[in-house]
Amino acid sequence: MGQRSFEWQERFCREQRPEPCRIVIFGASGDLAKRKLFPSLAALDARGLLAPTSRITGCARHPYTTDSFRRHLADCFPAPLPADGDIFFRRTGYMPLGYDCPDDYRQLAGELQRQGDGTPVIFYLALPSHLYPVVVNRLAAAGLLTETPSGGPRRVVFEKPFGHDPASAAALDAALRQHLGEHQIYRIDHYLGKETVQNIFLLRFANRIFEPIWNASQVDSIQITVAEQLGVEQRAGYFDQAGLLRDMFQNHMLEMLSLVTMECPYTFSADAVRDEKIKLIRSIRPIAFTDTVRAQYDGYTSEPGVAPDSRTETYAALKLYIDNWRWQGVPVYLRAGKKLGIRRTELDIIFKPVPHSVFPGIPQTALQPDILHLHVQPEEGIGLTLQAKKAGPKLCMGALTLNYDYRESGGESLDAYARLLLDCQLGDQTLFIRSDVIAAAWQLYQPLLDHWAADTATPIPRYPQRSDGPPEAHQLLARDDREWTDDLAVPL
Ligand SMILES: NC(=O)c1ccc[n+]([C@@H]2O[C@H](COP(=O)([O-])OP(=O)(O)OC[C@H]3O[C@@H](n4cnc5c(N)ncnc54)[C@H](OP(=O)(O)O)[C@@H]3O)[C@@H](O)[C@H]2O)c1
Repeated sequence: MGQRSFEWQERFCREQRPEPCRIVIFGASGDLAKRKLFPSLAALDARGLLAPTSRITGCARHPYTTDSFRRHLADCFPAPLPADGDIFFRRTGYMPLGYDCPDDYRQLAGELQRQGDGTPVIFYLALPSHLYPVVVNRLAAAGLLTETPSGGPRRVVFEKPFGHDPASAAALDAALRQHLGEHQIYRIDHYLGKETVQNIFLLRFANRIFEPIWNASQVDSIQITVAEQLGVEQRAGYFDQAGLLRDMFQNHMLEMLSLVTMECPYTFSADAVRDEKIKLIRSIRPIAFTDTVRAQYDGYTSEPGVAPDSRTETYAALKLYIDNWRWQGVPVYLRAGKKLGIRRTELDIIFKPVPHSVFPGIPQTALQPDILHLHVQPEEGIGLTLQAKKAGPKLCMGALTLNYDYRESGGESLDAYARLLLDCQLGDQTLFIRSDVIAAAWQLYQPLLDHWAADTATPIPRYPQRSDGPPEAHQLLARDDREWTDDLAVPL
């Protein structure tokens, strides 16, 4: 694109500064805490989005002292430490804690009391999910989840996976509900913290031009791709039990799909948005097993921590339909995989072709469809592929893509975890998953998970590492006379 102009309406730039909070991170010795949570909190601090009197306490079994914990964290900050890194560290402490040890929770209660009563307390459970009920029970027994007018709100953040199937998700939910109200439960899906994903709301509901074309009469199909170059890395133990459908489709991809296809909420508030999401998810037709593909990358079963006879899918693709007025008959194609050639997360809205070509010598079928691309990863932005004429005397037609990178907006984007940690401080649950949405997501995918688990005879297709995935995923679209918008193999 050539010249761009941005006219940000400063009077509508809302940045709410959070009140002071006490933040406790369980599993503070772990990978997520070190790579994402503490750097995100430091980034919020640097931007004035962590109140100066807020305090952060890391808790885990590892016998760090506050000093050795700060040194452990310092590795994850770019060297040299940011100018304000030191200030951040001074408000960060560490307390060794056994997750099921009542005495340790009494000490934690004392520490939180010392930090000053009356401000919100956020407990972030960066732990394996089997520990969620253990920690919540202990927090409740120590009186740490009780909300009183003088004690301030109590919020608990849960990481994914939230259950392994519908029954375990329901059991986990019931265990948490013994001590927590839904308004206290923050179930994370970090994809919702990404700029593009939030921009879907603005694109759809702050621009009038899209609404008349955002439906089955104008849209041919929708594609969502989550391609990773990495394999299972350090998470083989978890991944080999879970598989890609649980890891990506049941949460991140369904959340993105629901934002792009749901109806307009009556207002941009947590429950109004989530009410529309649940309606959308419930209107997805049960997935036909014949419209699904699973595959495994070559060498997966030799990865450390993976069972040598594992049938876990590292790639999946499927087609689904949304049975409502807006989307009747529009296929939605989803694909995600590990060890592919490129890293890319993208949503593509593919519009119907023109009904007839008025250009002599160019058949209607040669005119490419218009595509709206929503880029989520690695760049965050938006693109529009249109038919255009090449400058010159000849009628030379081709596809032209206009691209806009959100970084060019002049704003400094926040990491997804930073955004979500900010919202937790503000008590805003819009970007967190409500329990009915989790239950509906499991109901959608469990029949397919059961079908795949029961089928132990059909060989799992393989695909080479750094490739585009298995040929079966192309056949899934070829059957409908369509193709994926992008090749995911390493570019030559
Ligand atoms: N890492 C990521 O990028 C990522 C991405 C998405 C979601 N998640 C989710 O975030 C949570 C934390 O992830 P993580 O990668 O940080 O996990 P992790 O490093 O495996 O575990 C975090 C901490 O939990 C404690 N822990 C681990 N296994 C335990 C066990 N069996 N019993 C008792 N304590 C145990 C350990 O601390 P101590 O031994 O010191 O107590 C460990 O340092 C998980 O639910 C994960 O699924 C992580």
